[in-house]
Amino acid sequence: MEKILEIKDLKVHFNTFAGTVQAVRGVSLDLYKGETLAIVGESGSGKSVTSKALMGLIPKPPGEIAGGEILFEGKDLAKLTEKEMQNVRGADISMIFQDPMTSLNPTMTIGKQIMEGIIKHRKLGKTEAHKLALELLKLVGIPNPDVRIKQYPHQFSGGMRQRVVIAIALACNPKILIADEPTTALDVTIQAQILDLMKNLQKQVDTSIIFITHDLGVVANVADRVAVMYGGKIVEIGTVDDIFYNPQHPYTWGLISSMPDLDTNEDELYAIPGSPPDLLNPPIGDAFAPRNPFAMKIDLEQEPPMFKVSETHYAATWLLHPDAPKVEPPEAVKKRMKKSPNKKEEN
Ligand SMILES: Nc1ncnc2c1ncn2[C@@H]1O[C@H](COP(=O)(O)OP(=O)(O)OP(=O)(O)O)[C@@H](O)[C@H]1O
Ligand SMILES: [Mg+2]
Repeated sequence: MEKILEIKDLKVHFNTFAGTVQAVRGVSLDLYKGETLAIVGESGSGKSVTSKALMGLIPKPPGEIAGGEILFEGKDLAKLTEKEMQNVRGADISMIFQDPMTSLNPTMTIGKQIMEGIIKHRKLGKTEAHKLALELLKLVGIPNPDVRIKQYPHQFSGGMRQRVVIAIALACNPKILIADEPTTALDVTIQAQILDLMKNLQKQVDTSIIFITHDLGVVANVADRVAVMYGGKIVEIGTVDDIFYNPQHPYTWGLISSMPDLDTNEDELYAIPGSPPDLLNPPIGDAFAPRNPFAMKIDLEQEPPMFKVSETHYAATWLLHPDAPKVEPPEAVKKRMKKSPNKKEEN
């Protein structure tokens, strides 16, 4: 598969009164043409900061790209000026945020807002842009687009607004669409509809999608691959099947154990004990060690490298070192591993 984006050892810092917050601590990631890559991880793990770096949206100061490269079509986006970045933003890479209202202009009809992008980036005339705007509204599932195109954002429900935002993001035909928690502000039924929409769109528009969420539950339905972030780093990456049926990192085990299990009906959800690392003073070894029941001495002394599990699957845990003791994953994870589509005979 062809790569569209290559992130190499990206580091993002925020210089605050308290000290330097190391929000992203060496993220390396490839995005392939036409795929949906999910980035999951708990609050503060660096998901939004990573995606904002791709869009050139890190506020400077206090933020800075402290190292690494973001390679896109032969350019290093980390080194572009704001002016150069403006041509990339919208045209090549678009972003959808959590709250649709923040991305819509309340004083402009939604038709005008969609057409702006089309006229600017696709170099089309007004009539053509209007036609395409109607098509985009249809594509994102807005009924009566002829009427709706003349209306203002306040005339739309939350779910419909997010559809409009998606239409705007697609207006300039981006090569990469970043969706940062696009459904968390919506209620559950609407969430499912927007997720369905995102999934279907991808087949129709051939855009690569980065889908950010803290909810591993929604990932299986939308993504091809999953990157798990913890404390500003990617700790495990693989296909959806790799991550759900053969997870290797104890943090991923924790995430999977905290997913509601439809079979057992247990009332209490598991939560990973402890709290995320202090990014002002990141620990020396594996940042997850203090919360890891399987932590070894080396976890406190040295950062684990990315160990290769398979061609598609990598995880940064010392447990994968040949000399590490074999440990059993928690029950909830083992149960899921047994359900693996590749292990049907064991069911
Ligand atoms: N402008 C800023 N100044 C200082 N620190 C910041 C700033 N923006 C982000 N951070 C810090 O960077 C770290 C990563 O934040 P980020 O927003 O990427 O988390 P996230 O994974 O997107 O979390 P969430 O799920 O809550 O959205 C956090 O520790 C956060 O406090
Ligand atoms: Mg975020």
